[in-house]
Amino acid sequence: MSDLFPFTQDAKAEPPIWREGEKLWMLTRYADVQTLLRAADAEVIEFQAHIQTIAVKAGRNYDCLVGLLSAILFFRNPPWQKQARASLRRGLAAIGSRMSDAEIEPIIDTAVASVAGTAFTDAVPTLANRIPILVMAHLFGLSEATVETLNRQGKGVVNAWKRAMPLRVYSALEDQAAEIDQALRFEIHRARQDGGPLSAFLDEMHGYDDREIVGLTFGLIMAGIETTSGLLSSVLYVMAAEPQHVTAMRNGELTERGFVDEVLRMAPPLRRPSARRLAEDQQFGDVTLPAGSFVSVDIMSAQRDPALFENPHGFDPSRSSTSLLAFGNGIHACLGVHLASLEGRLLLRAALNFELGLPNADGVDWDPDPTFCRLRRLDLQLNPIQHRLPS
Ligand code: HEM
Repeated sequence: MSDLFPFTQDAKAEPPIWREGEKLWMLTRYADVQTLLRAADAEVIEFQAHIQTIAVKAGRNYDCLVGLLSAILFFRNPPWQKQARASLRRGLAAIGSRMSDAEIEPIIDTAVASVAGTAFTDAVPTLANRIPILVMAHLFGLSEATVETLNRQGKGVVNAWKRAMPLRVYSALEDQAAEIDQALRFEIHRARQDGGPLSAFLDEMHGYDDREIVGLTFGLIMAGIETTSGLLSSVLYVMAAEPQHVTAMRNGELTERGFVDEVLRMAPPLRRPSARRLAEDQQFGDVTLPAGSFVSVDIMSAQRDPALFENPHGFDPSRSSTSLLAFGNGIHACLGVHLASLEGRLLLRAALNFELGLPNADGVDWDPDPTFCRLRRLDLQLNPIQHRLPS
């Protein structure tokens, strides 16, 4: 078992397990996870409908909260999800030129340079969280402050599905959702008047009302920040903890892509996507789960399945690639694979110009939330490498 990711001792590929506390089946083998994610009739739980029911019963108005959640693709089923997915794909293509190496590299280089030096910095807020915010701001032509606020307010809203909560919590989330709604409507109105990247994106959102457009934009921004920041924190952590791979990359013996893919395999930033409900009986290996069962997946365990990966718990960036599940699979597969991988590789490339120092174990803190695999704190020192002048 690798000491590199000490919190992942529980990652283990085994037959479907019933989790009494959560009242669902957990899939951990690669083949089982892939089968579920590809099962077109396995539905995600549209919990915004449940929040709407709570609002009606309690005589409250949670319209903004329900509106935002209703437009987040991975909480929706076809046909709405399928159509909205096609629209978001077109919207992203319309601003695709802003996702090139040439556009993103200076953003990342500047962020890295701003924390370089002899002092330790917590690289989670200063780099891992900040870079995806800067990139999203660039993509849509928004300010860093606007995207930072959307992300901060949006975290609670997106997590509203996690458990039944007291009414006062839903009411507080409704207030946050209303602020997000107002801020995005303002930006959308401005973009429609002044043009710019957000307007090019909006041009592809045909047939939706304003509330849906706000929700679609919000959902895309949120999907692109939380997960990517997890990847970036893990990339920096492994670079600092295993400097032999950094040397190999500097010498051209190891590819940047191989390193990032191995980080995605060992530490998938979205470890547990939202649960599905089976519409039909479904076979997972020699176990059949009945229609109506709730089923969840553990991507980390699946990506350490010895049936597919030799020495599954070892970090080996030179391993030949097997399709990863870190970006999902099937009808909900991630729309941001290109962008997220680009951010990972460009941060890695920028960091290769520095010696990365980890102070001690106290400066490394993993998020205990089992949905994600990411750091909450990563104290790091980035010392510029002294390039020797040729004699
Ligand atoms: C390392 C970073 C990322 C990881 C690990 C990741 C992972 C995932 C996974 C596992 C899913 C499937 C969820 C499910 O099946 O329930 C997903 C969906 C999605 N991702 Fe990503 N993602 C990342 C970055 C991004 C970025 C940068 C964007 C935006 C540009 C994005 C946009 C989306 C969207 C819109 C969906 C929903 C697709 C649908 O439901 O049809 N993601 N992502």
